[in-house]
Amino acid sequence: MPRTADERNIKTRDKAKTFDALMDTLIRAVREVMRDVRVIRQRDPAAQSTAEVLMYSGLHAMLFYRVAHILYLSGHKTLARMVSQTARFLTGIEIHPGAKIGKGLFIDHGAGVVIGETAEIGDNCTIYQGVTLGGTGKDVGKRHPTLGNNVMVGSGAKVLGPMEIGDNVKIAANAVVLEAIPSDCTAVGIPARVVRRRGARVDNFDQVHTPDPVTQEMCRMNVRIEALRRTVDELEDQLEALKDEAGHPAPMLVRGGEYWDYEI
Ligand SMILES: CC(C)(COP(=O)(O)OP(=O)(O)OC[C@H]1O[C@@H](n2cnc3c(N)ncnc32)[C@H](O)[C@@H]1OP(=O)(O)O)[C@@H](O)C(=O)NCCC(=O)NCCS
Repeated sequence: MPRTADERNIKTRDKAKTFDALMDTLIRAVREVMRDVRVIRQRDPAAQSTAEVLMYSGLHAMLFYRVAHILYLSGHKTLARMVSQTARFLTGIEIHPGAKIGKGLFIDHGAGVVIGETAEIGDNCTIYQGVTLGGTGKDVGKRHPTLGNNVMVGSGAKVLGPMEIGDNVKIAANAVVLEAIPSDCTAVGIPARVVRRRGARVDNFDQVHTPDPVTQEMCRMNVRIEALRRTVDELEDQLEALKDEAGHPAPMLVRGGEYWDYEI
């Protein structure tokens, strides 16, 4: 019980400050949710109304993540984990509370998305179902990828390792990205390779490991020369045998219907 008027004033001021801080957090959270809803409505052609968007599991996962991330940063790591695991149970989306996520992330469909502890995601990114932003198991410390702004990661894609993915990158569905991708590129396949840069086709022709056609032709010629040499050897042996049988040089070569003596 405060005894003096001063002590009572301090307590009232502290309560007012806590209330203000709570209201600020609440207003910020509501603003962020409204922004997320706007982002989803802009990017998902299937979203017909705000009410519909409010049911999206990607939106729920982001709400849980924000709470978990605040708890994580304030040192309440177990509590943060509890919140993220609850989100995983409810949405099928697992975002580690330590991940750093920018504004306007849209997780479409969501199920099976995994975002690792040291992953970083820039602003206005889109991630589809089944995406993993994970580690390879070979790195320590920073183990997960860093995505720039406006990155799209297609369904089922795996981005593994602490590499940088530039701005405006598109990662194709089911790609497995193991190396950095520069900005403004599209990467496809396993392992993922860049196929488009600023919309233009990228020539992936491997000049170094392509066989040299001249060397290949010379190899073929060597094989034929060897075969011809063997044939000539055989013919010479036959000639020798005929010569021995006849006791004189054998008439072997036929030219213009006549026999020509073969001189050795
Ligand atoms: C990659 C993608 C983003 C298109 O990007 P883009 O820059 O417009 O590229 P293009 O469509 O011109 O395709 C580039 C090349 O990659 C190939 N390609 C596209 N997607 C591919 C994929 N998922 N796997 C393998 N190759 C793919 C194309 O056939 C094309 O090949 P080409 O160079 O021989 O013609 C798109 O195909 C994609 O995968 N989006 C994922 C969307 C998604 O996950 N949706 C799920 C909704 S539920």
